Amino acid sequence: MIAVAIAFAAALAGTACKIISPVRTVDIHVPSRDADADTVDGSVVPPDSSMPSGPLGAALRRGRALLEHTPESLPRYVGSNLRCESCHLDGGRRPDVLPLLGAFARYPRFAERTGAVVTIEDRVNYCLTRSLTGRRLPPSSREMEDIVSYLAYLSTGVPAGAHVRGEGIPRLPRLTGDPDRGSPLFVANCARCHGAAGQGAQVPRTGSATPPRLAPALWGARSFSIGAGLARIERLAAFIRLAMPYDRPGTLSDQDAFDLAAYILAHPRPDLPGKSRDWPGGNAPADVPYATRGHAGLSPPPLIRRAGDTAAMMVPAPEPAERAVPRTPPYGSRGRTSGSVHVRRAAGDMRRSRV
Ligand code: HEC
Ligand code: HEC
Repeated sequence: MIAVAIAFAAALAGTACKIISPVRTVDIHVPSRDADADTVDGSVVPPDSSMPSGPLGAALRRGRALLEHTPESLPRYVGSNLRCESCHLDGGRRPDVLPLLGAFARYPRFAERTGAVVTIEDRVNYCLTRSLTGRRLPPSSREMEDIVSYLAYLSTGVPAGAHVRGEGIPRLPRLTGDPDRGSPLFVANCARCHGAAGQGAQVPRTGSATPPRLAPALWGARSFSIGAGLARIERLAAFIRLAMPYDRPGTLSDQDAFDLAAYILAHPRPDLPGKSRDWPGGNAPADVPYATRGHAGLSPPPLIRRAGDTAAMMVPAPEPAERAVPRTPPYGSRGRTSGSVHVRRAAGDMRRSRV
């Protein structure tokens, strides 16, 4: 199957490379993640300009627009001033910076943080409730269907369960961040776009071709919540090291990135109801900033309480990873299965989640 995917990649590479929006090459030396032998090249995914016309194309374009204009399109569901693309840069196509290429092909999957098998709709709702500090979208809403349709488009040509080169975000060497060193680095490198108080600001135009866009909040009431992946210092440091400053990515050292992350994460940010139920298996990564089973939060930030319906800020817990399923009766042997069950395990190869 992988050989087919690679052949497909090679066939498409000639056309796809030219049209996909240019990706900055960053000279960065970080230990590579354990590259999977079955990794597919993201260039198998056709560019947005190849979306079909008709109703499917309209759904895909609406999904794309929701990722690009999230707070404006879903004002009741977004509490921050971030959009999906604030973190999933270049429309979710930039390798090594949380790309969304191939994500759809890997769901449903087992997520350690939830301790259960989650669907792609749940995964989108985790980002809405945690990273956008919002409320969950009903899975059967048109908006969710459009987002998922677009995510499926970003998995075109990626075999189910396959991994895409540049998936996730590379791990930096584990360093200790110092907020006091981060403070002057922030003023020198970040405040001109994100604002001196980290509240977010319009990015000044650098030329008539560059549309003004928002550099979103980094802390405060409109920032990502404590339950977001980026609220973990190792993730945030890697994001900063690879992607920021936006116009000069790759110019900071690993230590600078950790110091900046420590400075940003020392400020108040919105709370996430129900967060202590994360990692029910007791295996929270060391840098999770809040207490979960068997884990004391690492440098917890001051929290800003969120007003409103807290239940809507949580994704309902899915079925546990292992559950009893009634055995399908063999044909013609009705009645033989009463009370008889077997246990279905989450497939081993679904346990790759980096969540
Ligand atoms: C504050 C940053 C941030 C924002 C904003 C954000 N995300 Fe995410 N997203 C993440 C991080 C971090 C991950 C975890 C990536 C990983 O585990 O490799 C993630 C993971 C995902 C995944 C799963 C990817 C995979 O390979 O399993 C999907 C799908 C996703 N986000 C969709 C969205 C959508 C849709 C939105 C907007 C509604 C959004 N995200 C907004 C940070 C963000
Ligand atoms: C030239 C302007 C600019 C500079 C300088 C800049 N950023 Fe950004 N940053 C952006 C923009 C724009 C986005 C959102 C990208 C998008 O929406 O496509 C962003 C997104 C982010 C995000 C993810 C979204 C969020 O708000 O949480 C983080 C974290 C971040 N920047 C941190 C930093 C840090 C730390 C620095 C300093 C080292 C920095 N940025 C410098 C423009 C900038």
